[in-house]
Amino acid sequence: MPLVSGREGAGGLRFSHELGFPGVMYSPNITPAGLGEWTDGEIFQAITAGVDNEGNALFPVMPYHDYAKMDKEDIYSIIAYIRTLEPVESQIPERELDFPLGLIVNLMPEEHELPDMPDPSDQVAYGEYVANAAGCIHCHTTQDDKGMMIPELLLAGGNEYPLPTGGIVRSANLTPDEETGIGKWTEEAFLMRFKIYADSSMVLPEIRDGDLNTVMAWTLYGKMKEEDLRAIYRYMQTARPLSNNVEKFTAP
Ligand code: HEC
Repeated sequence: MPLVSGREGAGGLRFSHELGFPGVMYSPNITPAGLGEWTDGEIFQAITAGVDNEGNALFPVMPYHDYAKMDKEDIYSIIAYIRTLEPVESQIPERELDFPLGLIVNLMPEEHELPDMPDPSDQVAYGEYVANAAGCIHCHTTQDDKGMMIPELLLAGGNEYPLPTGGIVRSANLTPDEETGIGKWTEEAFLMRFKIYADSSMVLPEIRDGDLNTVMAWTLYGKMKEEDLRAIYRYMQTARPLSNNVEKFTAP
């Protein structure tokens, strides 16, 4: 992080054994250069049901289970947006999954009836909707060794992300636990933690080998609407407080 400007949607992020994945796979190119012939319906299926335009299952590192909880209007907007990305050519290698996952993965997708977006006046339900759509719940809920969220450990954090530059970053505990979570954070402090990245005077340090980085897209989330961030905070404050003392950064 942050993202390389001009390469939005070009893909190539590598997920491999060193990062705990059962094989080697790359995020594909979703600019018009990559998805050129896909129909809107096929893109919709990929996002919400995890099936590509040839009927192959996507590996659930692409969190389509979460996106199946989104309003179809929001998915349509996302499709309209990615159609406007600058076409960027990139060569992305095919995935290689360890046997027998290469076969099992084809049994994974399910189709869902997509729900309506909750009314923003219901702050907690709306905050949960946004926190799911923005990936917060996915990264900040403790996952089992297959990368599936453990519902009893909602927002308790601790997921490990080994960094390409060395070292490990772990997702924070965002439950309202006062000692190990964000129970003592005020709504304003939470908001500022994000909005500081929307300040034009903020200069991000250059990341070199051996430097610690984060996988959390602070600069993108800093652009979120204030009301959306406030709703996320209010939703998170209703979660069960769980004690989990996460060491967020471990140097190489
Ligand atoms: C790709 C995984 C990922 C996603 C998605 C993600 N986070 Fe994080 N988050 C992390 C990691 C890892 C850290 C710890 C490193 C850091 O502070 O950057 C973190 C740190 C934080 C912290 C700092 C907590 C502290 O104790 O300092 C907050 C607050 C937070 N995330 C909220 C959110 C919210 C809200 C969203 C959704 C809008 C979100 N995160 C999405 C991985 C993620």
